[in-house]
Amino acid sequence: MDFKGKKALITGASSGFGVDFADILGSKGMDLIIVARRKDKLDEVKVNVEKKYGVNVKVIDMDLSGFDAAQELYEMTKDENIEVLLNNAGYGMYEFFKNQKAEEVDRMLQLNIIALTALTNMFLKDMVKKDCGYIMNVASFAGFNPTPFYAAYGASKAFVMNFSVALNTELEKTGSKVVVSAFCPGYTDTEFVSRAGQSRSKFVESTIGKSYPAAVEAIDGLFNGKAVVMPRFMNRFAASMLKLMSRKKAAETVFSSIKED
Ligand SMILES: NC(=O)c1ccc[n+]([C@@H]2O[C@H](COP(=O)([O-])OP(=O)(O)OC[C@H]3O[C@@H](n4cnc5c(N)ncnc54)[C@H](OP(=O)(O)O)[C@@H]3O)[C@@H](O)[C@H]2O)c1
Repeated sequence: MDFKGKKALITGASSGFGVDFADILGSKGMDLIIVARRKDKLDEVKVNVEKKYGVNVKVIDMDLSGFDAAQELYEMTKDENIEVLLNNAGYGMYEFFKNQKAEEVDRMLQLNIIALTALTNMFLKDMVKKDCGYIMNVASFAGFNPTPFYAAYGASKAFVMNFSVALNTELEKTGSKVVVSAFCPGYTDTEFVSRAGQSRSKFVESTIGKSYPAAVEAIDGLFNGKAVVMPRFMNRFAASMLKLMSRKKAAETVFSSIKED
């Protein structure tokens, strides 16, 4: 597939996976629109990717957890002929749910679910009209089972995964060439864990992986039409073990694993 000169929109491109996605798509010759709140970090990504690959990178600094933010972003980019949308912006909150503030949970769900769904809806319509395009929604290993300490976050990622696989199937069964894919990484060395307020416990240290190879797998999977991409054998094995248990037992297993030492 030749993506040279085509355009991708990447949310959450100021750190972690988003920076890797920008590098990988830039290396394929794609022009990029990158979105997040930290403009200085986005500007660094722009300079690096433009210098390395000679592509054009446009920066949009905005908070996607705001009401109407997705609509606003769509209005700003709808005439750009976006062929690849990576809904990557998101974060988790590690804590007993009873201790989490309602307004903070709302903001997280607004970003992880509402903005992602709205952007998918708006860009998918345009892609279906042209019968081409790729959307990758970043879910998580945590979307496969109940995740104590990340109860609301894990449930938000279960939404993202099921939503994306359902769309992948609707498109495939109706003969569309548009692809929607769910990327489901496990613990990965980005800003995620510290932002979530989780410490680098022995368990986290023993399971955490590197982001770049996982991001390469995600993009390959997307361009090959895969409905779900879960990088690393360790994660796939753990997910399949948890699937054999009752949900309650799986939740108890996750509780014991990720409880702080
Ligand atoms: N790393 C992991 O262990 C892991 C595992 C499973 C799934 N994931 C998922 O992977 C995705 C990327 O996270 P990451 O691991 O790369 O972590 P990260 O380094 O913290 O990156 C998160 C990105 O989202 C952006 N973001 C956060 N809140 C935002 C907001 N309100 N509006 C716009 N952008 C916002 C951040 O940029 P600004 O702060 O500049 O806005 C940043 O670019 C997330 O959806 C996360 O849930 C991560």
